[in-house]
Amino acid sequence: TDLAQFIAGLPKAELHLHIEGSLEPELMFALAQRNNVAIPYASVEEVRAAYDFSNLQDFLDIYYAGADVLRTRADFHDLAMAYFTRAAADGVVHAEIMFDPQTHTDRGIPFAEVIEGLLSAMAAAEAEFGLTSQLILSFLRHLPEEAAFATLKMAEPWLGRITAVGLDSSEVGHPPAKFARVFAAAREKGLKITAHAGEEGPPAYVHEALDLLGVDRIDHGNRALEDEALVARLAAEGMTLTVCPLSNLKLCVVKDLADHPLDRMLAEGLKATVNSDDPAYFGGYVADNYRAVAEARGLSRDDLVTLARNSFTGSFLPQEMVARHV
Ligand code: HPA
Ligand code: ZN
Repeated sequence: TDLAQFIAGLPKAELHLHIEGSLEPELMFALAQRNNVAIPYASVEEVRAAYDFSNLQDFLDIYYAGADVLRTRADFHDLAMAYFTRAAADGVVHAEIMFDPQTHTDRGIPFAEVIEGLLSAMAAAEAEFGLTSQLILSFLRHLPEEAAFATLKMAEPWLGRITAVGLDSSEVGHPPAKFARVFAAAREKGLKITAHAGEEGPPAYVHEALDLLGVDRIDHGNRALEDEALVARLAAEGMTLTVCPLSNLKLCVVKDLADHPLDRMLAEGLKATVNSDDPAYFGGYVADNYRAVAEARGLSRDDLVTLARNSFTGSFLPQEMVARHV
């Protein structure tokens, strides 16, 4: 359709993507076989049928179990290359990808295997598709802050190749305040900062991400809309929100895409972007997200152009690189 063509042809950056969440069932089966790992599904169809979530935790349980097939540097390379190939086809020219080292190091996979596999795919994607990318190391918030400190220490030899740190996993009960010290340490090392906030957690968690973590952007941020003063502050600061419409639908953050607040965010002056979060689990890559929300909310071409422009101005690219894209 015209809309699909317009969206695919719009150069975009993806700012909210968990690389482990791009593991398609077909690759999960292939890696299970390559590594001799048992998985609790008999077929690709059975895996897809299990992707019926009623909240974030439902999804996370399946997402961490799926990641068990990832064992070697080659696995992480193949995982990321599959994502970049798909993203390039969607018109993504720059991607800032999150990875969860603790999901792997806690299973005995060396940090080096994870990151070297990702870095080799990032180089290959730039050579093959001209798609640039950056890495965001995300801390798992259901684990203690000491574990995040240990992860930051493990990452030390690669800090020149890591752009930012993030905060993901189970939000409610694990406020940003729990990680204030480790984010301060990351900032001192020159890393940018992002955090999931206001996906399921209350507006107070968004306030904490701003005040206690000093975030450079907010992942999701939907529930900030419940707090008028917070909305005004986010708008005044030009804070980027990495919104994920199909994720919001699959995790029941919204009941229906027709209720999605993306255009309300834009109308309130918020710098919203559109992203895929965990595309293999939520039923679509970035262009699918643009398309689905554009259809459900009747977004204009101007809105889509604004969203794509926000994805570059909200990126962690240096100013001169941003200028090349907008
Ligand atoms: N929210 C929180 N943690 C996550 C997500 C998400 O959408 N995806 C992967 N880890
Ligand atoms: Zn996310």
